[in-house]
Amino acid sequence: MDIESSQHQTSRSFKDKWENFSSDFLDITADETSDIYQWIMNRNGFASPNEFRNWVSTKNRILDAGCGNGRVTRLLQSYANVNAHIVGLDLVAAKVAAKNLSDLSNVEVHPADLTQSLDQFGFFDLIYCQEVLHHTDNPELAFQRLTDQLTENGEIAIYVYKEKAPLREFADDHIRNQISQMSFEESRDAISQITNFAKVMAKNSESIEIPGVDCLGIESGSWTVQRLIYNFMFKNFWNDELSWDENYAVNYDWYHPSLCSRHTLEEVRDWFHRNTLEILHETVDPYGITIRGVKLSNSRKLQQ
Ligand SMILES: C[S@@+](CC[C@H](N)C(=O)[O-])C[C@H]1O[C@@H](n2cnc3c(N)ncnc32)[C@H](O)[C@@H]1O
Repeated sequence: MDIESSQHQTSRSFKDKWENFSSDFLDITADETSDIYQWIMNRNGFASPNEFRNWVSTKNRILDAGCGNGRVTRLLQSYANVNAHIVGLDLVAAKVAAKNLSDLSNVEVHPADLTQSLDQFGFFDLIYCQEVLHHTDNPELAFQRLTDQLTENGEIAIYVYKEKAPLREFADDHIRNQISQMSFEESRDAISQITNFAKVMAKNSESIEIPGVDCLGIESGSWTVQRLIYNFMFKNFWNDELSWDENYAVNYDWYHPSLCSRHTLEEVRDWFHRNTLEILHETVDPYGITIRGVKLSNSRKLQQ
């Protein structure tokens, strides 16, 4: 697929996703006891919901860039101070998010492409961008567009997919190349198979001790069969906290959009440095890279 077709396919893929799964993860993302909430809090470097809330509550203009159906926008709004203004932007999901967030008077949502100038939306002292940049046709440009909208001392927190072990990269690309050619409906069988496979694998909670195989990036350790396959062979997502449809949506989200780049820590650090941001926190887990940084004020730039 050329880049233009990939962009078109990816927009269509997310449009279909949000039209079909418009309320997915809305409540569970804000539930401080859920795996999803803990994942967001921990990888952004906060040890407790209080720490996370305190961080958000000091910000006055907050942007959720690539907000999808607005689940994280809702979480950020719930932690923001009452006078804060929260903006959600998304290529294709603005209508869905606006409907989901219509009860919140200090939130507005607009359609926008993060690879284009975002000047019309003004400046922000917090930009949150989770699982979005790797779905654009130019992640570094989109990152730069976001940092252009940061105030001095404003913070940006991003999460992008990490490059994985070779077998997993190969198998995921192999599967994605097939699934991304299919319409939303046509992909149902293939994605259902992967979801059912993951569900059965996840039933077995017994771990086995595995010696590492360096040339395949397989790390030694104690793995359940599902995590061994998931981490090193192919993505097959299952979480018992979620419904079958929500698990399906996660597998769809991974395999259906054709634009889905994976990155290295060095590469993402470079984006921060090239845009004169100081890195405040980073987390690298087996799946993604989270970096939080601050835009240096002019006086601090001069001192560097
Ligand atoms: C995996 S979803 C993540 C949504 C949300 N950040 C979350 O964590 O729930 C990726 C989102 O990025 C949006 N997206 C992809 N490319 C974009 C672009 N160039 N500009 C703005 N949004 C984009 C998609 O429409 C989709 O809603």
